[in-house]
Amino acid sequence: MDTELLEQTARELVSQGRGILAADESNGTMSNRLQAVGVEPSPETRRAYRSNIFVTSGYDSAISGVILFDETIRQKMDDGTPIPQYLASRGVHPGIKVDTGAKELAHHSGEKITEGLDGLRERCEEYFSMGARFAKWRAVIRIGDGMPSAANLSTNAHALARYAAICQEQGLVPIIEPEVLMDGVHDAQRCYEVTAEILDATFEACKIQGVHIPGALLKPNMILPGKACSDQGSRESAAQMTVDCLTNHVPHNLPGIVFLSGGQSDEDATAHLNLMNAMDGEHPWQLSYSYGRALLAHALQTWASGSNEDSQQAFLHRAKMNSLARSGDWSVSLES
Ligand code: 13P
Repeated sequence: MDTELLEQTARELVSQGRGILAADESNGTMSNRLQAVGVEPSPETRRAYRSNIFVTSGYDSAISGVILFDETIRQKMDDGTPIPQYLASRGVHPGIKVDTGAKELAHHSGEKITEGLDGLRERCEEYFSMGARFAKWRAVIRIGDGMPSAANLSTNAHALARYAAICQEQGLVPIIEPEVLMDGVHDAQRCYEVTAEILDATFEACKIQGVHIPGALLKPNMILPGKACSDQGSRESAAQMTVDCLTNHVPHNLPGIVFLSGGQSDEDATAHLNLMNAMDGEHPWQLSYSYGRALLAHALQTWASGSNEDSQQAFLHRAKMNSLARSGDWSVSLES
């Protein structure tokens, strides 16, 4: 394991003012999103939409890495440059989603286990040779009646740790993503408890598998009430509960935490991150973003309505807003 390379890549991914763009929707998810805005999905429309985002000028200071899907890492920009090479030429690390999706967990209706460990070593080796320097694996934890089960937590924690160890062996920084979903009526306290449980289980499994924590990143949910909870709380309490949960359940030698947006509005995702970074005192890790929808939802809509340039402007605006949130310098007045 090249710990120096891993630590350097991890540090670069969370360097000041920069975060990650998650553009790794599976073909199925990306096709649904294209259809929802009236575009016929195909390998070419998926490529055209994403490469238009990638050529945007001026985002390099706000985006340190882009997570790609297997189809995209093999595609080319309009001028024929392979996409991972193009991103690297902009000073942006190419990353790759390596799980093969969340599948039904046996004997646990409604719960999922993320698969993709078979053949992972060989796939990581190939992705590294194509230019990838980091990877992502997403586990999904649902809160509900009797959920999450012990089986759901332990199987996903185990898989995340095995994935992380294999990635590190192949030179890829693993982004460890145990996502507690926002679906449901639960309150923020329940989200806190379940997030604490999956974080504890995941880092315990990482210890057993020998994962090198300074060469890894965590991609968690924020501590938020379920979307259908009657008490939505304040942005301030969400930010405080998130920092409290992470402080108590994440190793302090982890270089960075890159949140997912998980269905929050663009502005909530930025405001929450900003509040956390504006708190008095230093956090042990960099607090950054690895947003998908909160960086690109508007850009996709605009692209579908026919303007490449407006789509790039929509992406650039969100990238800049989140970049400011890295240092607590965002304010709502900058949104207009
Ligand atoms: P969202 O920010 O849209 O939740 O996506 C981030 C991600 O990569 C989820 O795996």
